[in-house]
Amino acid sequence: MPNTLASPRVSALLSRLFTEADEKDPAVLLSIQKEADANFAGQRYHPSLTHLFDQAFMPVPPEVGQLLYVLIRSRRPATIVEVGTSYGISAIHIASALNDNAEGRLISAELSARKVAAARANLQSLGLDRWVEIRQGDAFETLKSVEGPIDILFLDGWKDFYLPLLKILEPQLGPGSLVIGDDTKLFPERLASYLAYVRNPANYQSVDLNIGDGVEVSVKI
Ligand SMILES: C[S@@+](CC[C@H](N)C(=O)[O-])C[C@H]1O[C@@H](n2cnc3c(N)ncnc32)[C@H](O)[C@@H]1O
Repeated sequence: MPNTLASPRVSALLSRLFTEADEKDPAVLLSIQKEADANFAGQRYHPSLTHLFDQAFMPVPPEVGQLLYVLIRSRRPATIVEVGTSYGISAIHIASALNDNAEGRLISAELSARKVAAARANLQSLGLDRWVEIRQGDAFETLKSVEGPIDILFLDGWKDFYLPLLKILEPQLGPGSLVIGDDTKLFPERLASYLAYVRNPANYQSVDLNIGDGVEVSVKI
Protein backbone atom coordinates (compact mmCIF):
# COMPACT_ATOMS: atom_id res chain seq x y z
CA MET A 1 0.00 0.00 0.00
CA PRO A 2 1.25 3.52 -0.68
CA ASN A 3 2.12 5.93 2.15
CA THR A 4 1.90 9.32 0.52
CA LEU A 5 2.78 11.15 3.74
CA ALA A 6 6.11 9.30 3.96
CA SER A 7 6.93 9.74 0.28
CA PRO A 8 10.14 11.70 -0.45
CA ARG A 9 8.29 14.53 -2.25
CA VAL A 10 5.73 15.11 0.51
CA SER A 11 8.30 14.72 3.30
CA ALA A 12 10.65 17.18 1.61
CA LEU A 13 8.00 19.86 1.10
CA LEU A 14 6.62 19.47 4.64
CA SER A 15 10.11 19.70 6.05
CA ARG A 16 10.76 22.91 4.06
CA LEU A 17 7.42 24.45 5.11
CA PHE A 18 7.90 23.56 8.81
CA THR A 19 11.40 25.05 8.72
CA GLU A 20 10.13 28.24 7.08
CA ALA A 21 7.35 28.50 9.67
CA ASP A 22 9.83 28.00 12.54
CA GLU A 23 12.10 30.68 11.12
CA LYS A 24 9.46 33.31 10.31
CA ASP A 25 6.52 32.91 12.69
CA PRO A 26 8.09 34.08 15.99
CA ALA A 27 9.05 37.50 14.56
CA VAL A 28 5.78 37.94 12.66
CA LEU A 29 3.65 37.01 15.68
CA LEU A 30 5.69 39.35 17.89
CA SER A 31 5.17 42.25 15.50
CA ILE A 32 1.42 41.50 15.39
CA GLN A 33 1.27 41.65 19.19
CA LYS A 34 3.31 44.87 19.31
CA GLU A 35 1.10 46.57 16.70
CA ALA A 36 -2.02 45.33 18.44
CA ASP A 37 -0.86 46.62 21.83
CA ALA A 38 0.28 49.96 20.44
CA ASN A 39 -2.66 50.76 18.18
CA PHE A 40 -5.64 48.47 18.73
CA ALA A 41 -5.95 47.97 22.50
CA GLY A 42 -4.34 44.53 22.21
CA GLN A 43 -6.86 43.32 19.60
CA ARG A 44 -4.72 40.96 17.49
CA TYR A 45 -7.44 40.28 14.95
CA HIS A 46 -7.94 43.91 13.95
CA PRO A 47 -8.42 44.14 10.13
CA SER A 48 -5.43 46.50 9.89
CA LEU A 49 -3.17 43.61 10.92
CA THR A 50 -4.30 41.30 8.11
CA HIS A 51 -1.15 42.01 6.09
CA LEU A 52 0.93 40.63 8.98
CA PHE A 53 -1.27 37.57 9.57
CA ASP A 54 -0.91 36.83 5.84
CA GLN A 55 2.77 36.10 6.54
CA ALA A 56 2.22 33.80 9.55
CA PHE A 57 2.04 30.04 8.95
CA MET A 58 0.82 29.02 12.44
CA PRO A 59 0.78 25.37 11.27
CA VAL A 60 -0.25 22.21 13.03
CA PRO A 61 2.91 20.59 14.42
CA PRO A 62 4.01 17.33 12.75
CA GLU A 63 2.38 15.09 15.37
CA VAL A 64 -1.02 16.75 14.89
CA GLY A 65 -0.65 16.39 11.13
CA GLN A 66 0.17 12.71 11.69
CA LEU A 67 -2.92 12.33 13.91
CA LEU A 68 -5.05 13.73 11.07
CA TYR A 69 -3.46 11.27 8.64
CA VAL A 70 -4.05 8.30 10.98
CA LEU A 71 -7.68 9.22 11.72
CA ILE A 72 -8.48 9.75 8.06
CA ARG A 73 -6.85 6.50 6.92
CA SER A 74 -8.81 4.51 9.49
CA ARG A 75 -12.15 6.38 9.28
CA ARG A 76 -12.15 6.64 5.45
CA PRO A 77 -14.28 9.79 5.41
CA ALA A 78 -16.15 10.95 2.32
CA THR A 79 -16.16 14.63 3.38
CA ILE A 80 -13.76 16.55 5.60
CA VAL A 81 -14.15 20.25 6.32
CA GLU A 82 -11.27 22.37 7.60
CA VAL A 83 -11.41 25.93 8.90
CA GLY A 84 -8.02 27.64 8.41
CA THR A 85 -5.97 26.40 5.44
CA SER A 86 -3.09 28.85 5.93
CA TYR A 87 -0.17 27.66 3.73
CA GLY A 88 -1.65 24.17 3.48
CA ILE A 89 0.42 22.16 5.97
CA SER A 90 -2.56 20.41 7.58
CA ALA A 91 -4.22 20.13 4.14
CA ILE A 92 -1.14 18.25 2.83
CA HIS A 93 -1.47 15.71 5.66
CA ILE A 94 -5.20 15.34 5.03
CA ALA A 95 -4.82 15.10 1.24
CA SER A 96 -2.06 12.49 1.67
CA ALA A 97 -4.50 10.31 3.62
CA LEU A 98 -7.28 10.84 1.06
CA ASN A 99 -4.82 9.93 -1.71
CA ASP A 100 -3.98 6.68 0.08
CA ASN A 101 -7.68 5.97 0.72
CA ALA A 102 -8.31 6.74 -2.98
CA GLU A 103 -11.56 8.42 -1.98
CA GLY A 104 -12.96 11.42 -0.13
CA ARG A 105 -12.58 15.17 -0.35
CA LEU A 106 -11.38 18.07 1.76
CA ILE A 107 -13.16 21.42 1.70
CA SER A 108 -10.93 23.97 3.39
CA ALA A 109 -11.72 27.61 4.20
CA GLU A 110 -9.15 30.42 4.33
CA LEU A 111 -9.59 34.19 4.64
CA SER A 112 -6.31 35.25 3.03
CA ALA A 113 -6.01 35.27 -0.79
CA ARG A 114 -2.23 35.12 -0.51
CA LYS A 115 -2.38 32.00 1.64
CA VAL A 116 -4.96 30.36 -0.62
CA ALA A 117 -2.68 30.86 -3.64
CA ALA A 118 0.32 29.46 -1.75
CA ALA A 119 -1.61 26.46 -0.38
CA ARG A 120 -2.97 25.64 -3.83
CA ALA A 121 0.54 25.82 -5.30
CA ASN A 122 1.90 23.57 -2.55
CA LEU A 123 -0.81 20.94 -3.10
CA GLN A 124 -0.41 21.15 -6.89
CA SER A 125 3.34 20.64 -6.65
CA LEU A 126 2.63 17.31 -4.91
CA GLY A 127 -0.18 16.26 -7.26
CA LEU A 128 -2.57 16.32 -4.28
CA ASP A 129 -4.76 19.24 -5.35
CA ARG A 130 -7.49 16.99 -6.77
CA TRP A 131 -8.48 15.99 -3.23
CA VAL A 132 -8.86 19.55 -1.96
CA GLU A 133 -11.23 22.42 -2.66
CA ILE A 134 -10.04 25.61 -1.00
CA ARG A 135 -12.71 28.26 -0.51
CA GLN A 136 -11.35 31.76 -0.09
CA GLY A 137 -13.19 34.07 2.29
CA ASP A 138 -14.84 33.99 5.68
CA ALA A 139 -15.77 30.43 6.65
CA PHE A 140 -19.10 31.69 7.98
CA GLU A 141 -19.96 32.50 4.35
CA THR A 142 -17.96 29.99 2.33
CA LEU A 143 -18.94 26.92 4.36
CA LYS A 144 -22.61 27.63 4.95
CA SER A 145 -23.55 25.83 1.73
CA VAL A 146 -21.46 22.71 2.39
CA GLU A 147 -23.54 19.64 1.76
CA GLY A 148 -23.40 17.02 4.45
CA PRO A 149 -22.83 14.67 5.87
CA ILE A 150 -19.51 16.01 7.16
CA ASP A 151 -17.52 13.06 8.50
CA ILE A 152 -14.66 15.09 9.99
CA LEU A 153 -14.63 18.79 10.91
CA PHE A 154 -11.17 20.19 11.69
CA LEU A 155 -11.29 23.56 13.45
CA ASP A 156 -8.05 25.55 13.20
CA GLY A 157 -9.11 29.15 12.49
CA TRP A 158 -9.50 31.93 15.07
CA LYS A 159 -10.43 30.43 18.38
CA ASP A 160 -13.50 32.54 19.23
CA PHE A 161 -15.23 31.10 16.16
CA TYR A 162 -14.89 27.37 16.94
CA LEU A 163 -18.22 27.15 18.76
CA PRO A 164 -20.26 29.43 16.44
CA LEU A 165 -18.91 27.59 13.38
CA LEU A 166 -19.55 24.20 14.95
CA LYS A 167 -23.16 25.22 15.64
CA ILE A 168 -23.62 26.38 12.02
CA LEU A 169 -22.18 23.15 10.60
CA GLU A 170 -23.67 20.82 13.21
CA PRO A 171 -26.80 19.99 11.19
CA GLN A 172 -24.43 18.37 8.68
CA LEU A 173 -22.75 16.18 11.33
CA GLY A 174 -24.23 12.76 12.01
CA PRO A 175 -23.69 10.29 14.85
CA GLY A 176 -20.07 9.17 14.62
CA SER A 177 -18.83 12.36 12.92
CA LEU A 178 -15.55 13.60 14.36
CA VAL A 179 -14.86 17.19 15.39
CA ILE A 180 -11.20 18.03 15.98
CA GLY A 181 -10.27 21.31 17.64
CA ASP A 182 -6.63 22.42 17.59
CA ASP A 183 -4.65 24.60 20.05
CA THR A 184 -6.75 23.83 23.12
CA LYS A 185 -3.83 24.22 25.55
CA LEU A 186 -2.68 27.44 23.89
CA PHE A 187 -6.03 29.23 24.23
CA PRO A 188 -7.87 27.61 27.16
CA GLU A 189 -9.87 30.73 28.01
CA ARG A 190 -10.96 31.59 24.50
CA LEU A 191 -11.90 27.96 23.92
CA ALA A 192 -13.66 27.45 27.27
CA SER A 193 -17.23 27.58 25.93
CA TYR A 194 -16.30 25.36 22.96
CA LEU A 195 -14.67 22.80 25.23
CA ALA A 196 -17.62 22.82 27.64
CA TYR A 197 -19.94 22.17 24.71
CA VAL A 198 -18.04 19.24 23.21
CA ARG A 199 -17.35 17.79 26.65
CA ASN A 200 -21.07 17.59 27.43
CA PRO A 201 -21.82 13.87 27.01
CA ALA A 202 -25.28 14.70 25.72
CA ASN A 203 -23.60 16.30 22.67
CA TYR A 204 -20.29 14.49 22.12
CA GLN A 205 -17.90 12.01 23.69
CA SER A 206 -14.64 13.89 23.79
CA VAL A 207 -10.97 13.29 24.54
CA ASP A 208 -8.33 15.87 25.43
CA LEU A 209 -5.08 14.91 23.69
CA ASN A 210 -1.89 16.37 25.09
CA ILE A 211 -0.05 16.60 21.78
CA GLY A 212 1.16 19.70 19.98
CA ASP A 213 -0.61 22.69 21.50
CA GLY A 214 -3.47 20.47 22.67
CA VAL A 215 -6.08 18.76 20.50
CA GLU A 216 -9.67 17.92 21.44
CA VAL A 217 -11.13 15.01 19.47
CA SER A 218 -14.88 14.69 19.86
CA VAL A 219 -17.30 12.20 18.37
CA LYS A 220 -20.92 13.23 17.79
CA ILE A 221 -23.37 11.17 19.78
C1 LIG B 1 -3.70 28.42 12.74
S1 LIG B 1 -3.82 28.93 11.06
C2 LIG B 1 -4.22 27.44 10.21
C3 LIG B 1 -3.03 26.52 10.03
C4 LIG B 1 -3.27 25.37 9.08
N1 LIG B 1 -4.38 24.55 9.50
C5 LIG B 1 -2.03 24.54 8.96
O1 LIG B 1 -1.85 23.58 9.70
O2 LIG B 1 -1.17 24.90 8.13
C6 LIG B 1 -5.36 29.75 11.09
C7 LIG B 1 -5.84 30.27 9.74
O3 LIG B 1 -7.24 30.46 9.83
C8 LIG B 1 -7.59 31.51 8.97
N2 LIG B 1 -8.91 31.97 9.42
C9 LIG B 1 -9.22 32.52 10.61
N3 LIG B 1 -10.54 32.78 10.69
C10 LIG B 1 -11.08 32.38 9.51
C11 LIG B 1 -12.40 32.41 8.98
N4 LIG B 1 -13.43 32.90 9.66
N5 LIG B 1 -12.60 31.93 7.73
C12 LIG B 1 -11.56 31.42 7.01
N6 LIG B 1 -10.29 31.39 7.47
C13 LIG B 1 -10.04 31.85 8.71
C14 LIG B 1 -6.47 32.52 9.16
O4 LIG B 1 -6.36 33.39 8.05
C15 LIG B 1 -5.25 31.60 9.32
O5 LIG B 1 -4.55 31.47 8.12
